[in-house]
Parts: sequence; structure tokens; C-alpha cells
Amino acid sequence: MSQELQKIIAARRAAEFVKNGMVVGIGSGSTIAHVVDALGERVVTEHLKIVGVATSEKTRRNAAQLGIPMYNVDDVDKIDLTIDGADQIADDFSAIKGGGAALLWEKIVAFNSRENIWVVDATKRVSKLNQYLPVEVIPYGSDQLFKRFQADGFHPTWRLDQNGNPVRTDSANFLIDLHLPIIESPRELGDELIKMVGVVEHGLFTDVVNRVVIGENDHTAKILE
Ligand code: 5RP
Repeated sequence: MSQELQKIIAARRAAEFVKNGMVVGIGSGSTIAHVVDALGERVVTEHLKIVGVATSEKTRRNAAQLGIPMYNVDDVDKIDLTIDGADQIADDFSAIKGGGAALLWEKIVAFNSRENIWVVDATKRVSKLNQYLPVEVIPYGSDQLFKRFQADGFHPTWRLDQNGNPVRTDSANFLIDLHLPIIESPRELGDELIKMVGVVEHGLFTDVVNRVVIGENDHTAKILE
């Protein structure tokens, strides 16, 4: 079964956790696009009444187009449930996020949410995190930070667009991707990175999620809690 189909199956299952009256954090990426579609469908067919808080401008536009009223994170009292994707999820439920450049807003929305669900296809499950790690940095002084990452053995690369310019996040920051071998201690590494001046946020998410929905090869969605 294709990875895309796994994403759709997992996304539709995850969307079922959304109930009438909820304030829903809506993540970013290609898997979440399917969640947005499923919620849009439920708004029409079931008259589902929800309010959304987006983790990126793109998600906000897409969800609003499907009739989901979208609010800023500071305009709601609380978020009941956030559904987001991930680039990798390890056995201990730590994850790498930020492949879609939205990690800062994703982390803010996740930390203000009572419950968090990640929805992924089966390829995203790993025993330990081992993929490039996005770090969002303030543009001012970012060349110095890049050199520091090099000196520390983090093997950094700039995230560039198709024209070779630095990608700008929704907060107008830059992204530096760190290329590390297996990340044995995500919490320790996250603590180290967040202390570096100029780092706004990193893509390591630990102690965030309550539930993971995985699209499997056999057309089912597996739920881990
Ligand atoms: C964006 C993210 C996404 O959730 C992550 O990149 C997964 O995206 P996709 O569903 O397209 O694989 O963290 O910053």
C-alpha cells in the first residue's frame, strides 16, 4: 500500500477523535492536509461545530477554505486537542518535527493543548530518532551560530528554497538542519540546543503526545497510547 494511502487512513481515523464544540489545534504537512479534508467533510455532513487553531499560515488558509472557523492561539482560552504530523517518532514517543518548517508554532500549539495526537504513516516509526533535526534560529547572528554548530560536530546545513535563498518560517526566522547520527538522548540534546543564544526552538518534541495514530500496510490505523 502506498505511503499516501497510509497517511489518508491514519488521518481519517485521527479526525474521529474530534468532537462537537472542541477547540482543535491543527498541525502542518501533507498528512495533516488529509486531516483538514476529513474535518471539512464532517463540518458539512455532520454539522460538526469546532474552532481551529493552526500551526502554520498554510494550514490556516486551507482549513478556513473548508469552513472551519480559525482563531489565533492567543484568542482562545484553551485548546482541547491538537492533531499534528511528525517526521519521525521513536519508541519512547519522542519525535522530530519541522520538516515542513512549522516547528515553532507546532510546539506552541502543542504545549497549550490538553491532548495531543500525532498521525503518521508507518515509515515514520523508528526505534530511535536518526533523521536530520531542524532548528529555528534568529537571522541576526545566524552565521555565527552555524559556525558554532559546525565546531560542535552537529554537521549543520541551511534550509534553502528552490532559488537558493534561506527558507523563512512563519515567524520570519531561518532554519538550520543538523545532521547527527542516532539521537540517543533527545531531552538532553534539546536542553543543550535551547540554551544556545539565537536558537528560537528545535524540532525535538518530548513528553508531548498522548496518542499516535499510524497508517499501516494492511489498510488499518493502529493506535498507540
Ligand atoms: C512540519 C512538520 C510536519 O508535521 C512533518 O514534517 C510531517 O509532514 P508530512 O506529513 O508532510 O510528512 O513537523 O513542520
